[in-house]
Amino acid sequence: MKLADNKATLSFSNGTPSIDLPVYQGSVGPDVVDIRKLYGQTGMFTYDPGFLSTASCQSAITYIDGDKGELLYRGYPIEQLATQCDFLETCHLLLYGDLPNTQAKADFTKRVTNHTMVNEQMQFFLRGFRRDAHPMAIMTGLVGALSAFYHDSTDINNPEHREISAIRLIAKMPTLVAMAYKYSVGQPFMYPKNELSYAGNFLHMMFATPCAEYKVSPVLERALDRIFILHADHEQNASTSTVRLCGSSGTNPFAAIAAGVACLWGPAHGGANEACLNMLEDIQRQGGVAKVAEFMEKVKDKNSGVKLMGFGHRVYKNYDPRAKLMQETCKEVLAELGLENDPLFKLAMALEKIALEDDYFVSRKLYPNVDFYSGIVQRAIGIPTGLFTAVFALARTVGWIAQLNEMISDPEYKIGRPRQLFTGSAHREVKPLAKR
Ligand code: CMC
Repeated sequence: MKLADNKATLSFSNGTPSIDLPVYQGSVGPDVVDIRKLYGQTGMFTYDPGFLSTASCQSAITYIDGDKGELLYRGYPIEQLATQCDFLETCHLLLYGDLPNTQAKADFTKRVTNHTMVNEQMQFFLRGFRRDAHPMAIMTGLVGALSAFYHDSTDINNPEHREISAIRLIAKMPTLVAMAYKYSVGQPFMYPKNELSYAGNFLHMMFATPCAEYKVSPVLERALDRIFILHADHEQNASTSTVRLCGSSGTNPFAAIAAGVACLWGPAHGGANEACLNMLEDIQRQGGVAKVAEFMEKVKDKNSGVKLMGFGHRVYKNYDPRAKLMQETCKEVLAELGLENDPLFKLAMALEKIALEDDYFVSRKLYPNVDFYSGIVQRAIGIPTGLFTAVFALARTVGWIAQLNEMISDPEYKIGRPRQLFTGSAHREVKPLAKR
């Protein structure tokens, strides 16, 4: 970390002596005030629930400029990666710091492809679930269960274990998501096919059956690959921070990633794509575009509890660059499938137009996020709504692992242990039961 020329001075109005705190500069983005010695020097903690002003770690992986609406993976703009690279190149970039050359790409692809099958026992584990279980409930269980199958890669402090568990997780996530889907519709599981691309193989495992091949459409394959790239990492979001915190105890990588899957499920995070599509379908059922104005009034009424799902972001105070790319992909996919007049796409465009002109959204800097259009694309491809967040988890796995491995290799890493402002009873004596 690079020390800035200035330092911060914290003074108190009660006579406690002021203290100087070092300030560090990143390569880009806001400086940080180092408060690690604050407690030792003053006996005080800082208070920042929701991490509104707190950098929880140093990282060199992903950078977001929320005001500009810019997203960089290892310095490369998301727009260039989404249009010039594929998902496995992006995985290589996130994990190892650089885009692969031709040879490195072939080697990496071969390694991932050789690990796409899961232990045959996994299906018996899966069969313990109800057929109508939510795919994210299944994924939380299955990913955690991987640690029971791959004992040779569970030592988070061993770099070789970290490397092989990373490859295994990236390779096996599509297989697990497709298995969760097949189980829910009562179809046989489809084994992965090594001659297909990462996205093509996922489509095959989802939609082929033993009696009918699935011919992978290059447009849909590319669209899915782009969904994966756009969701691959997003710096210290809730699920990534969960993975880091969970992994900081020294737990195995599969358990840490399972914690990330559980966190991602929530509607304020990865569950927003499912919630957004449900919202669009609800409005469509009630009358579609004609009902948009009425719906927007509800969104603006704080007592209604209704939010415009797929809108707003803690970091982006401008158009989410992923949403722009997703909107383009949405148009391509709908054209490929002859669904140019898809009512939900029209509805989404109408909602976006109103929101971008409405003072409620403008004044709060609320713009569409990646989830606003990704559900429409996935639905058009044939992925059921309940599986959207599992597809997000599949794509985010590489980011979680890259961040976890970065943390473990950081000499400054310690178990995460936040403190608290205690507001409960200070001390009480237990009374005998008869006297309470
Ligand atoms: N619809 C209506 N009002 C909103 C929305 C929305 N989608 N998002 C934020 N607001 C309002 C919010 O009520 C608040 O108003 P006020 O200042 O009057 O109290 C203001 O905008 C600021 O919002 P906030 O909730 O304080 O912001 P936050 O940073 O805590 O929350 C968020 C960010 C993403 C949780 C929130 O915008 C939200 O719930 N959006 C809908 C869910 C969604 O699309 N989530 C996906 C995020 S992108 C994918 C991912 O990274 O997982």
